[in-house]
Amino acid sequence: MNFKDEKRRERVVFSLGGSLVVPNEVNVSYLRQFRDFIFDFVNNGWSFVLVVGGGAPARNYIQAAKEIIGDSITHDDMDWLGIHATRFNAHLIRTIFRPIAQPVIITNPEEDYLDTTKPVIVSGGWKPGWSTDYVAVKIANRFKAKTMINLSNIKYVYSADPKKDPHAKPLKDMLWKDFIKLVGDKWIPGMSAPFDPVASKQAMKTNLNVYVTEGSDLENVKRILQGENYTGTLLHN
Ligand code: UTP
Repeated sequence: MNFKDEKRRERVVFSLGGSLVVPNEVNVSYLRQFRDFIFDFVNNGWSFVLVVGGGAPARNYIQAAKEIIGDSITHDDMDWLGIHATRFNAHLIRTIFRPIAQPVIITNPEEDYLDTTKPVIVSGGWKPGWSTDYVAVKIANRFKAKTMINLSNIKYVYSADPKKDPHAKPLKDMLWKDFIKLVGDKWIPGMSAPFDPVASKQAMKTNLNVYVTEGSDLENVKRILQGENYTGTLLHN
């Protein structure tokens, strides 16, 4: 679980929430900071997988299709619109890391070639039925990683949904079995949970630890990587 240990340092897998990349328009100032952040670590010998979410384009395209054809839209078509948004965003991320990134983005986390000579590997979504969190878990599993990091727009996982329960408390850590009780174990297109339930089941099964933390606070993300005191929630068995 210690990213800092140089001898055993594993490739760090980030599930990069689309809301950080494209909250509405592309967040250019955040992406500049994020690029500097990754380059700094790469210059110190670290390597990464960046799995990119769909953000506003995913939601906008799904919404547009719904307005035109109403409830006849299928779950698969909603997910595919989301998947293409993740791939478009992933290509943007690959573009800003061109000199250090595998040229082709990953679209199948089980079978695509992963070029481990490159410090940065970028992935979009795979197929309907889950979010890019699941893709990130699958790639982390392929690297036999012990831990990955979910960069989202929340600081902590709460003991209950803070929108519904005024007594909900932020948690420093939580067991997968309790987290799955909280978010359920099913994928609903467009759902927003701190970590995707399908991904959570896979992480629990493969004994993967996941930090959930606010991706916009890169100083804090740095503290996680360096094994210092951080803000966020560690999900684990
Ligand atoms: P994400 O839900 O991963 O994007 O993918 P996001 O922007 O990071 O999500 P939040 O809102 O910040 O949490 C966008 C959509 O693409 C589809 C799903 O419908 C998902 O909601 N998707 C993505 C898939 O169906 N399969 C995948 O492998 C990835």
